[in-house]
Amino acid sequence: MYIRNAWYAAGWCRDFGTELEPRMLLNERIVFYRTTAGQLVAQEDRCPHRLAPLSSGRIEGDNLRCMYHGLLFAPDGQCIKIPGQASIPATVCVRAYPVIERHGVAWIWMGEAKEANDSLIPDFQGPDHPDWSMIPGRMDYRANYQLIKDNLLDLSHIAWVHAASFGGGDATVSESWADMPVTITTIDRGVRVQRWGIDVPMPPYMAASTGLRGDMFNSYDFLIPGIFLLKTMIFPVGTAKELKDGEEPRIKPIFQSFTCQAVTPLTDRTSCYFFGFGPEGDNPELAKVYYDLAIAAFTEDRLMIEAQQEVIDSDPSRRMLPLAMDGAPRRYAGVLAKMQKAEAVHA
Ligand code: FES
Ligand SMILES: [Fe+2]
Repeated sequence: MYIRNAWYAAGWCRDFGTELEPRMLLNERIVFYRTTAGQLVAQEDRCPHRLAPLSSGRIEGDNLRCMYHGLLFAPDGQCIKIPGQASIPATVCVRAYPVIERHGVAWIWMGEAKEANDSLIPDFQGPDHPDWSMIPGRMDYRANYQLIKDNLLDLSHIAWVHAASFGGGDATVSESWADMPVTITTIDRGVRVQRWGIDVPMPPYMAASTGLRGDMFNSYDFLIPGIFLLKTMIFPVGTAKELKDGEEPRIKPIFQSFTCQAVTPLTDRTSCYFFGFGPEGDNPELAKVYYDLAIAAFTEDRLMIEAQQEVIDSDPSRRMLPLAMDGAPRRYAGVLAKMQKAEAVHA
């Protein structure tokens, strides 16, 4: 059961041009197009007449024409022309979804349109953010989005899955992640997970900026419906010891990077993963290093998760075994269950 009252990433804004763009989101067929003023429109990709796909239709100015029998729909979904029929009942319409473009992302509200609240759009640092160098990325998964969400909520897997990428091929770098204690806090619509890596080896891609060892503060928020916002800050060795236990640093780090990611369910067995990952400041060369690193690392995740999905599907009766490292996924599951319950009551 997917949360409805939330903004899902439908794609990067740059993915939506002047053509009709069909997308499957949360098992719903949706077609995107832009009006003459460039406004992005999202409508159900199903003509109410004989259920032909509107994505096989034609954009006419601001409107969309079904090319089976010619019904014409306005951006708000209302039918404004029925060939051979003078009156148009108000009930002849398609569902129109609220869409907002912000931070370089096209966000779509999958719940009741009247509930859409733009203050719930997550604080992405998009490709045009002045303080960060970000190259937008996308990866398609043959897996349920829950498995990707659980992967992001528990970064202890970096130790094992990402030895070649984030560890730079050095197991001592990646395996330091497995033993770092985490602090988990419930926040509005999600959880916050923080950890200190004290006097840990720096991966090769960071060492030029940080030196070979450092104290690493890593903090991420995971928010409904599948938004991951992670900041990594590197300090001189000894910094963490000077702070109170687990305290969040308020001093300027030697180096910091940020990644914002969004997982969107397409169907129950396919998902789309949008990400930006880059260093602070205007640094296109280093941004490219981070982008390549993200592709390598997220491919490692994808291969593991798709294989995990196959094992799960081969015997759905098998249950997972919860362990201490599953604290954040468990906490988030509680937040999600509460919201699902609230939505079910209002449905
Ligand atoms: S199916 Fe669209 S007009 Fe007939
Ligand atoms: Fe990962």
